[in-house]
Amino acid sequence: MSFSKPREFYYLLHPRPVVVVVTTCEGGKYNAMPASWITPVSEEPPTIAIAIDRESYTFKCIEYSKEATFNIPSAEQVDTVYRLGTVSGKNVDKIKMFNLSLSKANKVSTPIWQDAIGWIEGKVTSFIDVGEVRLYIFEVLDYYAKADAVSEWGWQIPKANPIQHGAGRWFYLVGRHVVASK
Ligand SMILES: Cc1cc2nc3c(=O)[nH]c(=O)nc-3n(C[C@H](O)[C@H](O)[C@H](O)COP(=O)(O)O)c2cc1C
Repeated sequence: MSFSKPREFYYLLHPRPVVVVVTTCEGGKYNAMPASWITPVSEEPPTIAIAIDRESYTFKCIEYSKEATFNIPSAEQVDTVYRLGTVSGKNVDKIKMFNLSLSKANKVSTPIWQDAIGWIEGKVTSFIDVGEVRLYIFEVLDYYAKADAVSEWGWQIPKANPIQHGAGRWFYLVGRHVVASK
């Protein structure tokens, strides 16, 4: 057998779903950044984990407010999603710069990004520092999606198709399903 090796180990774990993390920062200002190193962790209590670079402004904001909203974008938002990851809230007001419409969340005081197609609201319950990131554990306080975007089993693909991050500017959409035999 012969093998190939991508540039980074984690490319073997991509593509993966992208969220836009909206946070409340010092001074009551809001920030937004894309993240794809996010995963469900437990069902009871409903919990997710997300790896956040400790150099990012989002890190500072999560430390400040201990909560966030996770906004699931669709293919139409791919340019905005990518660009939100190329600048830092340390230097610019990304909400203004990208003209993001925010609206009230249900269970946290941080708003949601209205143009997304799905939303998860959460509060930090613990964390662990690993290398350059803080791996945050968030309890899910509420979750919902745009009307008709989901059935009880999840996304109505391809009608609603959350974008997946490959590498750099490359993103994917889920294209086909396979069903395991009984
Ligand atoms: C598609 C995509 C996924 C990303 N995933 C993550 C991630 O999971 N964790 C992370 O810390 N940064 C991730 N980044 C990088 C941050 O979004 C980027 O550093 C951003 O500018 C930080 O913004 P902030 O300083 O305003 O928080 C990702 C970027 C892109 C474009």
